[in-house]
Order: sequence, then structure tokens, then C-alpha cells
Amino acid sequence: MSNTSASTDTEVFVEARALHAFVVAIWRAAGSEAREAALVADHLVEANLAGHDSHGVGMIPRYVLSCREGELKLNAHAQVVRDAGAVLTIEGGRGLGQVVTYEAMELGIARAKSHGVCAVGLRNAHHIGRIGHWAEQCARAGLVSFHFVNVAGDPLVAPFGGIDRRFGTNPFCAAFPREGAPPLVLDFATSAIAAGKVRVAYNKGVPVPAEALIDSDGHPTRDPGALFSDTQHGALRAFGGAVAGHKGSGLAAMCEIFAGALSGGFTTREQTIVSSHAIVNCMTSVIVDPAAFDAPSGEREARAFVDWLKATRREAGVDEILLPGERETATRRARAAHGIPVDPTSWSQIVDAARMVGLPDAEIAAKAGGPS
Ligand SMILES: NC(=O)c1ccc[n+]([C@@H]2O[C@H](COP(=O)([O-])OP(=O)(O)OC[C@H]3O[C@@H](n4cnc5c(N)ncnc54)[C@H](O)[C@@H]3O)[C@@H](O)[C@H]2O)c1
Repeated sequence: MSNTSASTDTEVFVEARALHAFVVAIWRAAGSEAREAALVADHLVEANLAGHDSHGVGMIPRYVLSCREGELKLNAHAQVVRDAGAVLTIEGGRGLGQVVTYEAMELGIARAKSHGVCAVGLRNAHHIGRIGHWAEQCARAGLVSFHFVNVAGDPLVAPFGGIDRRFGTNPFCAAFPREGAPPLVLDFATSAIAAGKVRVAYNKGVPVPAEALIDSDGHPTRDPGALFSDTQHGALRAFGGAVAGHKGSGLAAMCEIFAGALSGGFTTREQTIVSSHAIVNCMTSVIVDPAAFDAPSGEREARAFVDWLKATRREAGVDEILLPGERETATRRARAAHGIPVDPTSWSQIVDAARMVGLPDAEIAAKAGGPS
């Protein structure tokens, strides 16, 4: 247990650097080149650091199964299939999303710097994880970005007024870089909660928040098994609930079409359902250079608005009004200092996945430390 410490009966805390090294070792054993293993580890550990465990190292077992099925292709790279100047169409070829998306964003960033704007249609990537990661890549280059994503062929969410699964948890993300401060990053699934959060609740044996799930007859349920057990066929609801669910449902539908149709990828329909362990994402991103606008006071305006927003009177029990991305920044700071909590079910699944790709037990013990 060199790099982990027991917290409660239900969780261990793992130091970020140690977790990163373990993830690199798993992907090296699976056959990834060194850069690929590092990019996957960067992304997964960063998702945990940001507090989004649903998109962190807990994804490894599923990726490994997808790899064994031949659905996830190791050491694949982003391929530009059409270059129209400020519009790039990029084939992901079911490569690791952490690699092909990084490469697609690098291409889009370079083009946005020269053209002022670039729309990137990335299609057929294996799971691209936490979308905020890609917006942060653009923000580090000083660029604003908007991202529409579909989880192609993986219907889990019922449209507003419906009770059957029709589209994925289709995330939307937008980011605004700031001088001397972390970027504003709005990044969320258009379902009431991300499917990965239902998976985490299922693994922990705890209920999900009310209003997030319906059972197969359309009745509200808090049982995460409604989504993840083999016997139940419930659905997630779009965000917005009974009053504003049409907004979440509408945004999810536009994500499906922008990401799946505009990129030349595919949308979710009966004919396109993915039945393997693969998670396929398509993403249409618009990356914009703020310097291309005639807005010399843009940065100052944004800062003034933020001050005005934060100065509101608050509801009882609310200490601070948070901006998009601030919760992740605070979680990142706390987890960098105190470690990343991993529940024992997820941990043993990750260790099993490490064995499955051939990582020797001695190396698992040396790298992972924690309970196995
Ligand atoms: N690749 C995929 O297929 C896929 C699918 C769905 C979701 N995702 C990812 O899952 C992750 C989790 O999504 P989610 O819907 O659970 O996110 P969430 O519900 O935690 O919402 C996150 C957003 O809300 C902001 N936020 C959180 N608390 C706040 C508060 N108190 N006040 C103001 N703003 C606040 C955050 O800064 C962030 O922008 C995202 O990173 C998303 O990209 C990926």
C-alpha cells in the first residue's frame, strides 16, 4: 500500500502520480506505444483529479474488453479525410479517444490560429472521455471552443415525453480562456446525470438522485440497476426535469446531429446500435481565436461580469457562486494534495484488467499498491 491509503471501509486514496504510472504500465502491457499510454493516463487521471470519476481510471476495464473484441484499435492516429481550410473532417478509426482527439484538437488549434476559426468534425473515435479536457487543451492555446458530442449507437436516454432509450448522454462543452485565471469550462452530459455516474453508484451499491432514471415502464426510480443490470431496461432522463426537460432533450438531439451527422460519422438509430463493449464518440468542435474579434476590452468585460455575478446575494447554505469550471479547479487542488478516492469494486476491476493485459502481479503490486 505504498502509494495508497485506506480512508473508510469503502474507499482508498491513491496518489495521482502513482495512479498515472499504473495506467501507463497497463497500456504499455496492452501494446500501446509510450506516447499513447501517457496520453491515456494524462486524460483518465486528470478526469479523476477534476472530480469526474465516471470518466477516470474506472473506464479502463471497459476499454480493455473493447480492445480484446478488436473494437478499440491501439496505436491508431487521427486521419484528416477532408481539409477545407477552416473546416477539417477527421477520421478517428476507433483509435483511443485520448489519442485521436488530442491530435484532432492540435490540428484544429493550428488552423484556428491561422484562420481565426476552425470547425473540426471528428468521427468514429473510441470513447473520448471528459470533454472539458479537450476544451482545456484549446484554452491553453488561448482559444475559445464549443464542442457537441454524441455517444453514437448507445441509446440510454429517453427524449422529453418518451420512455424508450433513444439517444446517448451526448455531452456539450464550451470554454473561455482567461489571463491569469483558469478558463471557464462548462462541460456536462445532457442527461440528468452522466451514465458513468450511474455506473459508479451501481458499483458502490448506492441510489442515484431522484428524477435521473425511469424504469422500463417509465416510472421514476433511484435504482442504478435500471440502467446497468442485465434484467432491467430503464432509461436516463434528459436534464431539466419535468419543467425544463425539453431543453436538455433538445440540446441532446442537436448534439446527436451536429456530432454524428455533420462530421460524416453516425447517429444513434436501431440500425447503428453498438452491441460490443466499444463506446463510440463523434464530436463537432468549433475553435475560435478571440484575438480575431475586434474586442480589445473582451477580457476586461468578462472579468467585470464575473465580479457582478459573484456579488449576488446568496441562498441560505450557499458559500459562493461558482462559475463553470470552478468546482473542478477546487477538486483538482484537493485531490492533488490528498489523493484520488477509488471505490474497492472499481479498484479490483482495474487490477483484473491489468492482469488481463498481461501486467505481472509483481508489477501490479509495485505500481498499484492498493488492495487487489
Ligand atoms: N465521452 C462521452 O461519451 C461522455 C458522455 C457524457 C458525459 N461525459 C462527460 O462526463 C462528465 C460529467 O458530466 P456531468 O453531466 O455529470 O457533469 P456535472 O453535472 O458534474 O456538471 C459539470 C458542469 O457543471 C459545473 N458545475 C458543477 N457544480 C456547479 C455549481 N455548484 N455551480 C455552478 N456550476 C457548477 C461544472 O463546473 C461543469 O461545467 C463531463 O466531463 C462530460 O464531458 C462524456
